[in-house]
Amino acid sequence: MIVERAPAKLNLALHVRHRRQDGYHELETLFTFVTDGDEIRLEEGAGSFRLTGPFGARLAGEGDNLVLRAERAFVNAFAPGRTHDITLDKRLPVASGIGGGSADAAATLRALARLHGVALDEPRLFAIADALGSDVPACLLGKTALGTGRGEQLVPLAGLPPLPALLVNPGVPVSTAAVFKAWDGVDRGPIATGPVLEAALAGRNDLEPPARALAPVIDTLIGQMAAAPGVLLARMSGSGATCFALFEDAGRMREAAQAVRTAQPEWWCLETELTR
Ligand code: C5P
Repeated sequence: MIVERAPAKLNLALHVRHRRQDGYHELETLFTFVTDGDEIRLEEGAGSFRLTGPFGARLAGEGDNLVLRAERAFVNAFAPGRTHDITLDKRLPVASGIGGGSADAAATLRALARLHGVALDEPRLFAIADALGSDVPACLLGKTALGTGRGEQLVPLAGLPPLPALLVNPGVPVSTAAVFKAWDGVDRGPIATGPVLEAALAGRNDLEPPARALAPVIDTLIGQMAAAPGVLLARMSGSGATCFALFEDAGRMREAAQAVRTAQPEWWCLETELTR
């Protein structure tokens, strides 16, 4: 049995530059990951798929999820005729800007690669990831990186400390396509070069205004997080609605989490830290 973690992805900054002919948006983004996320368990078997975890039921109705598509693409390329029993332990909220589905697909590819002896830096694995979704290559890499193009062209970046991070989701699913569509079309410039945290602090998430318009609760959420004592950066991730706050100190992060849980007990709240 292979057990593979599917860490949540954060966009520390996300600058949308322009809309392309193919309908996608050219962007610059600082990807990073936290130490918590979903989990994939996989072995050769008759071809079963099981969903567990607090958000498992939310995916159960969707027959063709990214995990099964990733498995099909891998089997076609590297292991013709083989079948697998897969369990997805779904701990991250669905459609929430922290790459849950992309992380699951990437973890499935990593698990299958380990099982079938395929190198993790095999270019065909990245080509499969790319075809599954814009964030899947970043999740396959699983490291802090600058993403350009649709987000699939990646340059790893060193030097981000393992800061305490609080992730909060207000329980409103947001459609990535709808948020990109509502972007105002104004290019506000590139991400700064230099140390990752400084570039993130100097940057922004251009999808925040359109996401806030579609889900006004994000305003309340970011407001609360930005006001927390000891916060370094509070921002929405991806197309939302999950927002994150980075802290210098784990005690401050726990206090902020407690404040959110008291004020909004129904919101999803994860105390974690950035991956090294
Ligand atoms: O690539 P993925 O399938 O995850 O993207 C979902 C949707 O998000 C796309 O259909 C597109 O509408 C939008 N998108 C975009 N520009 C990107 C990434 C995603 O417009 N760079």
